[in-house]
Amino acid sequence: MPEFHTEGVRMKSNDLPPGILKGFQDVTLIHESERSSVFRGIRTEGSQPVILKVLKGDQSALAEVATYKNEYGILSDLDVPGVIKAYDLDTQDDSPVMVLEDFGGESLQQLTAERPLTLEEFFPLAVKACEGLADIHAADLIHKDINPGHIVANPDTGHVKIIGFGIASRQQQTTPSPLTHPGQLTGTLVSCQSSSVG
Ligand SMILES: Nc1ncnc2c1ncn2[C@@H]1O[C@H](COP(=O)(O)OP(=O)(O)O)[C@@H](O)[C@H]1O
Ligand SMILES: [Mg+2]
Repeated sequence: MPEFHTEGVRMKSNDLPPGILKGFQDVTLIHESERSSVFRGIRTEGSQPVILKVLKGDQSALAEVATYKNEYGILSDLDVPGVIKAYDLDTQDDSPVMVLEDFGGESLQQLTAERPLTLEEFFPLAVKACEGLADIHAADLIHKDINPGHIVANPDTGHVKIIGFGIASRQQQTTPSPLTHPGQLTGTLVSCQSSSVG
């Protein structure tokens, strides 16, 4: 049985969601939350590096599936340098699997886990992150959940892209999004100014 090595986590193939290996190789876990397991791997067809975001089996409630569909719908309509690209929204064993661009980045949350960035490291990434936000607003989108887990940077290339569009909405939307509730705060409190209203 193949084994997968991740930062401190050793995974056997039967720890992965069933079917995840189909069509992908060199799959390693890079992030795990209550909602999603996120893997880095290679799509066998075309040898393309990808990120696979898999909704956990116990989270496949309609509301959670809706955040995946919302995110995929928004990302697949968008083609700007400062936002991650979505290639596909697949279903494997009743769980949504989102196939995303891999540009060799890590979230700011992961990049700063061991030590804070120096100012020299921080400023160019911050400028790029602002450019990504400008791309989002120029496309009439409101992200609503900007936080260090949703800003992905590759320090070697200097590229920065925004991810995490599960509760994002379109500004011209005339009916309220089913993912937001009037009078209730959604998203991340620290980003509550321009990127969180709507
Ligand atoms: N394209 C990507 N490149 C690198 N890391 C990613 C990418 N997409 C997700 N991640 C990692 O997975 C984590 C969770 O992704 P996210 O889209 O926020 O999932 P969820 O919708 O479950 O919150 C991110 O904080 C980041 O560490
Ligand atoms: Mg997230």
